[in-house]
Amino acid sequence: SIAAHFKDHANKIYIGSALAPDHLSDSQYSSIAAAEFNSLTPENEMKWDAVEPSQGNYNYGPADQLVQFGQQNGMKIRGHTLVWHSQVPSWVSGLSGDTLHQTMISHITNVVTHFKGSIYAWDVVNEIFNEDGSYRSSLWYNNFQTSFVADAFQAAAAADPSAKLYINDYNVEYTNAKSNALYNLVKELKSQGVPIHGVGFQSHLAVGQIPSDFATNLARFTALGVDVAITELDIKQNGQSQDAQAAAYSEVIKDCLSVNGCVGVTIWGFTDKYSWISSDTACPWDSNYQAKPAVAAIEAALQ
Ligand code: G3I
Repeated sequence: SIAAHFKDHANKIYIGSALAPDHLSDSQYSSIAAAEFNSLTPENEMKWDAVEPSQGNYNYGPADQLVQFGQQNGMKIRGHTLVWHSQVPSWVSGLSGDTLHQTMISHITNVVTHFKGSIYAWDVVNEIFNEDGSYRSSLWYNNFQTSFVADAFQAAAAADPSAKLYINDYNVEYTNAKSNALYNLVKELKSQGVPIHGVGFQSHLAVGQIPSDFATNLARFTALGVDVAITELDIKQNGQSQDAQAAAYSEVIKDCLSVNGCVGVTIWGFTDKYSWISSDTACPWDSNYQAKPAVAAIEAALQ
């Protein structure tokens, strides 16, 4: 019988992975990526330090390579990320005031225009809140208070009116001070007519710690008139069995499927071989590309 793949069952939601172009020459990596997924997110290649390492000197080669891989394999592409406190090159962090504002707008305009037509959704702003729901101290907040958020969405929309524009964060998967702050911001931006279309829930999770109110929390956001997506899923084994990890993956997929407007799930790297998590085993495939029980569990949950 012909083996089924995630994407064969991804009718209601897309199923994606973060990918890195450096690994595409590893044939096991590229063949699993192409066979299983119908969406990808460049893990690092669209971040500011990668695309504009010095002012006006844009480097799109590695990101273009992933876009091409995605297009050849029928994948949606999520763009990640335009405005973030991290991976900001030093030439930017030395700026302030109007110069910094102009630089942010130029960066967004240039990057979004370059990829126009090939990006399904952009993570426009990433990780702007602290755990207590206050705004994170960052180059952006410290210079502009909260206004950079709406300005970033407006600039992205002007450059590509067809892309879905997202705000993205972690530890917002359940109801808490941080997700309440995110909820209130999305509500406010919507009421102001700011072009925001989605909320990304990163979902860096661990076995035994899958929020029981994940679906309920997603649903309160969709009630505001935005899409939601699980954008960076990984589940640390946390000393538990691979079967327990499989059940946890299944639960998250089912949480998304149970919410109208949850459009897809992206895993933050499918193999432990290249995962950003090195202290645990959080991916569906192990470091030798052997499928863990999570693979069959995800496939079953998608059906
Ligand atoms: O590309 C350089 C390479 O030239 C250099 O030799 C090497 C030496 O350290 O570093 C390489 O860059 C690293 C890059 O990953 C590519 O491997 C950076 O140091 C390293 O900080 C970077 O880590 C990434 C991290 O974001 C920071 O940008 C991880 O791969 C990536 O998985 C992680 O992803 C983030 C999401 O963007 C946002 N949400 C959390 C998530 C996990 O931290």
